[in-house]
Amino acid sequence: MSIIGVVSGKGGVGKTTFSINLAAALKEFGQESVIVDVDLNNPNIALHLGIPNMHLTLQEVLSEEVKVHHSIFHHPVGLKVIPSSLSMSNATADLSNLRKYLTQLEGIVILDSPPGLNENVISVLDASDSVIVVTNPEISAVTDALKVIKLAKDLRKDNIGVVINRVRNDVYELNSDEIELMCETPIVSRISEDSNIRKASFENVPVVLRNPYSLSTVDFMYLAARLLRKEYEPPNFLALRRLLSFRG
Ligand SMILES: Nc1ncnc2c1ncn2[C@@H]1O[C@H](COP(=O)(O)OP(=O)(O)O)[C@@H](O)[C@H]1O
Ligand SMILES: [Mg+2]
Repeated sequence: MSIIGVVSGKGGVGKTTFSINLAAALKEFGQESVIVDVDLNNPNIALHLGIPNMHLTLQEVLSEEVKVHHSIFHHPVGLKVIPSSLSMSNATADLSNLRKYLTQLEGIVILDSPPGLNENVISVLDASDSVIVVTNPEISAVTDALKVIKLAKDLRKDNIGVVINRVRNDVYELNSDEIELMCETPIVSRISEDSNIRKASFENVPVVLRNPYSLSTVDFMYLAARLLRKEYEPPNFLALRRLLSFRG
């Protein structure tokens, strides 16, 4: 098993969207994973995927009321998720032993974390074998990403990659070279700005499964292939397929 921590400096850059779609893309290659909602203050994987809120949560695992395996929600689209409690009183759960519970799981574990540099983020970084820092191609997001990269490096994490999300390839955004130079960390993926992401979220499904020919889907598939060291050939005639696809 291997634990990937998905972190960011700034909120709203796309960590939850990324975590869900990375899991979906890994699944397309036959790789099982479990997404864990570690954003205790603003848990929103359950909202993105439409998981009923009476389901068992990470908090019950941390307080040793249930075994970690029993807290997994099996989503109809084939994803496995450990949601976080929506109750405010559970937002203070102690994450310091997180890794101990997660190592009982199989496959890849994806930790969707809160933004910033707080104690819970440190616990996420501590628990992770590799770290993905999500940012947008804007100076404010990259400046905040730098801080979390520094924190990860201070914690002796050596497997850190940056994902630039919401890439439009226009002149108003920072390009990959500029971001790589600022972060002094390799860029592992660029995920396109994609209007289907909002539609998929509204329908509680990952864009990777809803729109197989969409711009961001192809980006997620490339990244999953790269992480698994597998080959990926995007479908032929992508532009034509997009045009003819009923789901946009
Ligand atoms: N590549 C993208 N293209 C378009 N919209 C996106 C993309 N990634 C994320 N979003 C949108 O940005 C918003 C924030 O994403 P979210 O995953 O909740 O961020 P975070 O978990 O970092 O707070 C959501 O409304 C989501 O639909
Ligand atoms: Mg989130």
